[in-house]
Amino acid sequence: MAINPADRIIVALDGMDPDQALDFAVRLEGLRWVKVGLELFVQAGPEVVSQLRDQGLRVFLDLKFHDIPATMSGACRRAAALGAELITVHACAGSAALQAAQAAALEGAQISGQPPPTLLAVTVLTSWDEQRLQKELAISQGIAERVPALAQLSATASIGGCVCSPLEAAALRSQHPEPFALVTPGIRPKDAAAGDQSRVMGPAEAIAAGASHLVIGRPVTRAADPGAAFSACCRELVSRSERLS
Ligand code: C5P
Repeated sequence: MAINPADRIIVALDGMDPDQALDFAVRLEGLRWVKVGLELFVQAGPEVVSQLRDQGLRVFLDLKFHDIPATMSGACRRAAALGAELITVHACAGSAALQAAQAAALEGAQISGQPPPTLLAVTVLTSWDEQRLQKELAISQGIAERVPALAQLSATASIGGCVCSPLEAAALRSQHPEPFALVTPGIRPKDAAAGDQSRVMGPAEAIAAGASHLVIGRPVTRAADPGAAFSACCRELVSRSERLS
């Protein structure tokens, strides 16, 4: 499997103000993908997506939409028209909202001359545990059953992929072959601090498990030398691909 590593690594622009984020992204040599989350988007507004696109970067817009079908459609149409190529929605919004959002995103991109986006479904936020799901939401299904069930619901509704833990990637990949996208945060390269992520995996292992893209934040953004940290992640993927070829 030939891997172009920079096309697989999405750097999360968290904890930066808009100027810092743009400056960071433009300086990071070889960077192809960035993730814009709620914090940056709320501060900077939609222009930040256009500005990153103008710098030649591909944008994962991680706003995790969850609403009625009409509102999800409108939001996804606008996000795709900005040029966001990966857009998150909550699988729990249900099949009607997911289907409508997917169709609207494609339409928004087409009308605006932007690349066709892939919608990514969030299944169960990693901040939930089974006990709290049961106690607070009366959900008795275990997380190990709920994640694949929501992934299946999303795939059936034409959603192009899921966000998942790298530890769930192998099981989901066995059910959903490529080109279904599996985008995994919780990545820690060798020697990086785990921080508040408890269930982590290295970049090469996550790709081997079936991830299509890796979201990496602090191991790159908080590194003493972010360029070197990003290159090291890329090298981990290249050396794995060379071992396989
Ligand atoms: O800094 P770190 O590599 O932990 O950043 C991971 C990114 O992925 C953050 O933007 C975080 O919000 C996001 N994320 C996550 N776990 C999830 C979903 C998203 O860490 N389950």
